[in-house]
Amino acid sequence: MKKFARIIGTGSYLPPKVVTNHDLEKTLDTNDEWIVARTGISERRIVEEEGTCDLAVEASNNALEMAGIDANELDLIILATTTPDKIFPATATMLQNQIGAICPAFDLQAVCAGFVFAMTTAQQYIENGGAKKVLVVGSETMSRLVDQNDRSTAILFGDGAGAIVLSADDETGILHSKICSDGRYLSSLQVSNNRINELGFIQMSGNEVFKIAVNRLSNLAETTLQECDMTTEDLTWMVPHQANIRIITAVAKRIKLPMEKVVLTLDKHGNTSAASIPLALDVAVRDGRIKKGDKLMLEGIGGGFSWGGLLVEY
Ligand code: ACO
Repeated sequence: MKKFARIIGTGSYLPPKVVTNHDLEKTLDTNDEWIVARTGISERRIVEEEGTCDLAVEASNNALEMAGIDANELDLIILATTTPDKIFPATATMLQNQIGAICPAFDLQAVCAGFVFAMTTAQQYIENGGAKKVLVVGSETMSRLVDQNDRSTAILFGDGAGAIVLSADDETGILHSKICSDGRYLSSLQVSNNRINELGFIQMSGNEVFKIAVNRLSNLAETTLQECDMTTEDLTWMVPHQANIRIITAVAKRIKLPMEKVVLTLDKHGNTSAASIPLALDVAVRDGRIKKGDKLMLEGIGGGFSWGGLLVEY
């Protein structure tokens, strides 16, 4: 019998330190009005002492608690991150050790699309019978990759983690997934260093990222709906990567999805890269917006470019 990968638990964690747009005004030539109008972001959380693994542990424990399972019941852990604590070992194995799991664990790097790539990988394991319970985590300390003197990027990014527990289910779960990459645009969004032992910061061609993101994400949403024989009216919620309100609004407009059906957290979280979708999902599950049986579209794009989307029955 076909197995589905069903979400049975969600969790998230944000570091306590809040950096508002007004805080940034003190060190950068910028202002709250410009940042809110161009990005939709009012504040973001930034780590002080915590690492990517620390954030992941908190989010994972919250997700495991909601799922009602112990870490030692997990068959697989996939951690999507752009900001691993060390080059090796994988942050996923550090997480595994901290939560007490005894299964394979690996990191996956697809920048802001990392969570969708990780969910798609977990889905394959579950549907092929290779795993029954999988922990999928997006955890990021993007503030480490940002030049705090660069106003074009320092305003955008934040730190945080989100986690999902997937379980093999006979009835429903992830209905469709698609991931894509196009390496022709590497220089549009990358870190500045060429070697791992050199210091590097995010460099971005904002306008180009904006246009490609809207184009690729709208096409992906339309194709996904067509392949599932659905329309936007069948969607209960869109949970997009929280990069920028103008990207999200433009995609919603292109696919004719009312903004009332879009889960937004970027005003308080900023762009947390691979963590942004599971963070937003957890917020909307816990505040009661997302309910059992809802049809969700999750989608995101990041450096590479890499992008992807999932259609999920919650
Ligand atoms: N505060 C005030 N003014 C600023 C700031 C700032 N933080 N940054 C740039 N400006 C100025 C520029 O210098 C420019 O001034 P000028 O007209 O005198 O030359 C003016 O504002 C307009 O600059 P643009 O770069 O054209 O501004 P734009 O409207 O494109 O907005 C932004 C910039 C917000 C980065 C936009 O391009 C964008 O949203 N791009 C998408 C990028 C993104 O979301 N990246 C996230 C990572 S990728 C991902 O997650 C999908």
